[in-house]
Amino acid sequence: MPAKDLETIVSLAKRRGFVFPAAEIYGGFANTYDYGPLGVELKRNIREAWWKSMVRDRDDVVGIDAALITNPRVWVASGHVSNFNDPLVDCKKCQMRWRLDHIEEGQYGEVKRNAAGDVTCPNDGGELTEPRQFNMMFKTQVGTVADEASIAYLPPETAQGIFPNFENVVASMRRKLPFGIAQSRVSFRNEITPGKFIFRTLEFEQMEMEYFCQPPADRNNPVEYLALHQEWINTRLAWYRDTIGIDASRLRIRDHEKAELSHYSAGTADVEYLFPWGWGELEGIAARTDFDLTAHGNASGHPLTYFDEDTKQHVVPWVIEPAAGLTRTLAVAMLEAYNEELDEKGETRVVLKFKPAIAPIKVAVLPLSKNEALRPAARRVYEMVRSTYMAQYDETQSIGRRYRRQDEIGTPLCITVDFQTVGEDGTPGDDAVTIRERDSQVQVRVPISGLLEALRDRLPGC
Ligand code: GAP
Repeated sequence: MPAKDLETIVSLAKRRGFVFPAAEIYGGFANTYDYGPLGVELKRNIREAWWKSMVRDRDDVVGIDAALITNPRVWVASGHVSNFNDPLVDCKKCQMRWRLDHIEEGQYGEVKRNAAGDVTCPNDGGELTEPRQFNMMFKTQVGTVADEASIAYLPPETAQGIFPNFENVVASMRRKLPFGIAQSRVSFRNEITPGKFIFRTLEFEQMEMEYFCQPPADRNNPVEYLALHQEWINTRLAWYRDTIGIDASRLRIRDHEKAELSHYSAGTADVEYLFPWGWGELEGIAARTDFDLTAHGNASGHPLTYFDEDTKQHVVPWVIEPAAGLTRTLAVAMLEAYNEELDEKGETRVVLKFKPAIAPIKVAVLPLSKNEALRPAARRVYEMVRSTYMAQYDETQSIGRRYRRQDEIGTPLCITVDFQTVGEDGTPGDDAVTIRERDSQVQVRVPISGLLEALRDRLPGC
């Protein structure tokens, strides 16, 4: 059962230290959020899971971390300076500003039209101005003189840090086609419309990969290229289901209509999630042909080609680009993990059923009470566990409340140290602890000597 509405997650995220509105003490800042102690762990774990599946577990993909602020000619060649525009409209009545494409997609609820059939303001049904094209890149200035020559851009995607390094990677890593270059980092877009929490923000993180392959035998009928595109669509869909733990019924693939595609594109498919407000994009998997390498080769005067040892010819590789949103996936991981159900006492508990590999805290060590007699053993267990797993130690409040707190942040396992562990009234302790599983709430007794092994069995992929 995922969260029924976004507000539930927004409130939990703030209350439990996942995501805070940015600069809240100054009244916040539109479409901008800060990641708290648990949010930062969750984000790292999702990125790590992506990196593992895209880079570490594969022989054909390597990573890169390109500069954020780079030569502005990169953004001219990529087409962002002239084309990375959104159509903006203003309501003549309430003066609110909107993205016309988002209104038409129904992102603000039911699409309303006037008698002439034109869409109207989602807020008050007012007439809208003609759309104006608005470039979404943030400009900045490099150097001390503010003139045209000093303009640089904050990157609106990670991909354009990859293409200019194509030749460097081929040469330094001795890559043969097909191979990929992956990158995960922050991107910036001047998003002007209300963003639905971290679904759409000014500053967000992406996980992108450019997979370079041989050009197809027939560019007008690129059968082998489209088959590779389909393979990546299947791989990426499976990642959201199996690694992030999203129920298959709330995932789908949406192929872009011809009209949505750029002139160079051989196809794009989005992985979409069923958000509380409807289907929305999680990742785009684009078949970008040889557009980017050709564009950067032409603009720089430095052709970006690959020398094919078999045919003894230089070719411009074609590329498949799976482009995912890290921070958007984090929102979905929270929505999807959210459950309300009955606890051991028949009371309602909130539990985030994260897959162990992405859970921010893997293990909580909880002495049964604050009693001094329990502390040395509990601290010893905590030190042992934290050497391997992200762990928390908590001895405040009743054990029931501490279980609830760990359930609500999605900790898969709690370990309780009690008087049976340390012994009482002359009875020797058994040097064992209780492991409580978050989802089943089942408790099992395990000797401390075998604890790490028991945790390993219960924390796959951690
Ligand atoms: N290089 C291709 C590219 O950037 P995109 O569809 O614009 O493609 C990829 O972005 C992913 O990045 C999206 O599917 C989404 O998950 C995420 N994303 C894009 N804009 C975002 C924003 N303003 N806030 C949060 N995530 C965003």
